[in-house]
Amino acid sequence: MKHGALWCVAPAVSGCVWRQGALQPKGPKALAIAELGALFFWISLVVLALVVGSALWAFVRGARHAGKADQPPILPSEQTERQLARAVGASTVVAVVLLAILLISSIATGRNLSAFAPAKPLHIRITGHQWWWKIEYPGATPDQQVVTANELHVPVGQPVELELISADVIHSLWLPNLDGKHDLIPNHVLKTRLQADTPGAYFGRCAEFCGYQHAHMDLILIAQTPTEFAAWLAGQRLPAIEPTTPETERGRAIVEQSPCALCHTISGTRALGSTGPDLSHFASRRSLGAGAAVRNRATLANWLRNPQELKPGNQMPAVELSSADLAAVVDYLESLR
Ligand code: CUA
Repeated sequence: MKHGALWCVAPAVSGCVWRQGALQPKGPKALAIAELGALFFWISLVVLALVVGSALWAFVRGARHAGKADQPPILPSEQTERQLARAVGASTVVAVVLLAILLISSIATGRNLSAFAPAKPLHIRITGHQWWWKIEYPGATPDQQVVTANELHVPVGQPVELELISADVIHSLWLPNLDGKHDLIPNHVLKTRLQADTPGAYFGRCAEFCGYQHAHMDLILIAQTPTEFAAWLAGQRLPAIEPTTPETERGRAIVEQSPCALCHTISGTRALGSTGPDLSHFASRRSLGAGAAVRNRATLANWLRNPQELKPGNQMPAVELSSADLAAVVDYLESLR
């Protein structure tokens, strides 16, 4: 399921998530990269066809000649030597010109990408962790700030400035439908801008080997209309939803009294940890463990029972809970829309 072309489970925001694809550009930067890729592809294809075609032609011609018993052997003459020298000279010139075209277009694209600096971008801070993404939307006041994880929401048609940093080792953010790769380096803020032109959900991932669970460090980018985005941001600014049933009430109490509260924040509760992802709106997200599984009650219960089974090596310890307590915690976390 996870490796299909589309993720069509957990329809939290919009139906499906496109698997990453640099050949389906959905923003100006990815479009420039895709066009450069197309130029390289077509030029290489024509060169390959010419080289293979000439080799086949020479082979067929030689075989035919050798098949005729009465033919004299082909010996080098002054005329054939001159023809050969001209052919080699012409091929060299063509190769140099083609390489120059590729080099110049590559430099020009690189410059255009780094010059992409539209005015008034929306600022978002992304911190790479082993092995998940912390995503922060700064606000004018602390209560306006939004903290989430592994799901990056952006408004369509508006440039976004990403501030990239790492909390541990070097990671690399890769959202191929929108941009190239950018490293997240400890103690060094790297800024990049991108823009999504088409609403949709796009798959991204860590593109730099960063340890055991590098392969489970996925990110989903959700490009929404400005109205939808504003509504989402406003929802994320609200404190976590209050329990409405005795079961979710009990679930919250267990979370607050267990080690969960030391590593995770759930706004409006006594859970104030910052080692792991913010869970205030946990159930609004689609994936669990940064893409280790699709988020639903069953995968969440398994995750809580033994986080090391689904994602060995991650920093979350198993918390001893009875089946009834586990069900209450699942109920509570699944209510955090
Ligand atoms: Cu983070 Cu690979």
